[in-house]
Amino acid sequence: MLNRMAFLAVGVVVAAAPSLVTGQEASAPNRAVYDSACSSCHGPTMGGGHGPPLHGETFMEKWRGKTAAELASYIQMTMPADSPGSLTDEDTVGIVDLIIHENRLAARPKAGASLKDLEQIKID
Ligand code: HEC
Repeated sequence: MLNRMAFLAVGVVVAAAPSLVTGQEASAPNRAVYDSACSSCHGPTMGGGHGPPLHGETFMEKWRGKTAAELASYIQMTMPADSPGSLTDEDTVGIVDLIIHENRLAARPKAGASLKDLEQIKID
């Protein structure tokens, strides 16, 4: 129970912006791009493989305090490691949404959010 509560406490701080919704209202993220471009190295459930895990404490230690936009920028410039620069803005937002979902952070980008909207989401 304590662990679960500590996990839930790892949320995101959200500035009041109309482009954001809380997790409950957000739709299920689209996994198609992740499955085809990322899962071969990061695993089907993001647990890691050739690449590091994209959820859990190791991941959060590296990204806590940064914004979702910084994560998006890193992903778009360096991933997939075998074809960097190949993701569209829309795909990148979708993947960041999925990562936020998998880390069970409190707020997620709304459908149709842009890369710029991700600046409002702090990984915390
Ligand atoms: C060919 C293998 C490969 C593919 C495909 C790949 N990655 Fe990676 N990824 C890596 C490796 C290796 C690292 C570690 C890089 C480093 O530490 O410099 C990494 C690191 C990352 C990180 C940083 C993790 C951290 O702990 O900070 C993120 C985020 C990430 N990848 C996302 C993605 C996404 C999203 C995709 C799909 C679009 C993807 N990767 C596809 C191999 C891959």
